[in-house]
Amino acid sequence: MDQERLLTALRGVLDPELGADIVDLGMVQSVHEHDGHVTVGVALTVAACPMRDQIEGDVRRKLLALDGVEAVQVETTSMDAQQRAELMAVARKRARENAEETRIPATTRVVAVASGKGGVGKSSTSVNLAVGLRDLGFRVGLLDADIWGFSVPRMLGTDEHLSAGDDKLIIPAVVNGIEVVSTGLIVETEDTALMWRGLMLSKALEQFLKQVSWGPLDYLVIDLPPGTGDVQMALSRMLPQAEMVVVTTPQAAAQKVAARVADMARRSFMPILGVIENMAGFTCDHGTTYALFGEGGGQALADGLGVPLLGSIPLDAAVVSGGDRGAPVVRTDTPAGLALRSLADRIVEALPPVDGESCTGRIARLVDDLTAAD
Ligand SMILES: Nc1ncnc2c1ncn2[C@@H]1O[C@H](COP(=O)(O)OP(=O)(O)OP(=O)(O)O)[C@@H](O)[C@H]1O
Ligand SMILES: [Mg+2]
Repeated sequence: MDQERLLTALRGVLDPELGADIVDLGMVQSVHEHDGHVTVGVALTVAACPMRDQIEGDVRRKLLALDGVEAVQVETTSMDAQQRAELMAVARKRARENAEETRIPATTRVVAVASGKGGVGKSSTSVNLAVGLRDLGFRVGLLDADIWGFSVPRMLGTDEHLSAGDDKLIIPAVVNGIEVVSTGLIVETEDTALMWRGLMLSKALEQFLKQVSWGPLDYLVIDLPPGTGDVQMALSRMLPQAEMVVVTTPQAAAQKVAARVADMARRSFMPILGVIENMAGFTCDHGTTYALFGEGGGQALADGLGVPLLGSIPLDAAVVSGGDRGAPVVRTDTPAGLALRSLADRIVEALPPVDGESCTGRIARLVDDLTAAD
């Protein structure tokens, strides 16, 4: 396997505060691959770096997302003074250069909700996951990347509109404590209609990432359109930290399509966090469970991809009525509501919020303070 592929994947690991990747920062000291086993030497800024677990976890996830990588061993060392000085120089330069990239900070975890087939429940899952994360106390954004087929505004029950701030940036609507951006929240005038019709899908997504004044979010949930096209590729290009969850039904056919999405995720270096099975067994009032859409598809897909099954959400009329009334079912004690709440817990476990106070960041400030004192 060529070194370049491994390094490209490692470029997806960002130092959260410096906003630069660990390859550019000179933190990757060595990468070796043998029979699918990769050993990576990572030099941390200080031995007791509080970011250690996070960086190790991110390195592992990015590399395991590559075809042919079976196991990853991360060996950490600490930098000497000279290396630290070089790192800070690179970090400062990168931070300046990258300021205009997107308005999503490196401290925001990005969860893209994907599937290979329409109508499996991506939007329902995205909306409920976002609300669930919010209810756990996180700062959450919800980006509706389904530019034409948007359903987020209805599911959140909002008729709020996006507005523009003094700096000409779009201000997200705040619904249920979540920052929401969707084409469905744009007031249709002749001008805007023309403008949006003229935009390519990937361009529209770019607008939403670059021209929106997102707050300092812990999580950004992205509801992807069905299929494996432009939008998904643009996303991975603009948000290197994005990770994907794949929604599938328990049916075998749906699973085949979802596998296609997973393949695309691998090609674009977007790690797959796990699989979510939706529309699983329906339990009637008498306690009998009916597998209306089959059984086991979620687990089978998860096994096939070597990722965990993050949750299984039962078929539940409360999802539909909640979506139609704009009252997310995650806030109810229905079977689906409970399953969605534990899904939010699992996502936080699998992708813990970034500790914004990284050791490199602290060193940067220390250096600045010392320089200022001179
Ligand atoms: N667990 C569930 N139980 C019952 N109905 C559900 C469940 N999940 C989703 N639905 C319903 O299925 C329909 C499709 O769901 P949703 O819009 O979330 O899918 P989607 O994957 O986003 O579709 P699209 O590909 O069109 O964007 C909706 O009417 C929704 O209310
Ligand atoms: Mg949808």
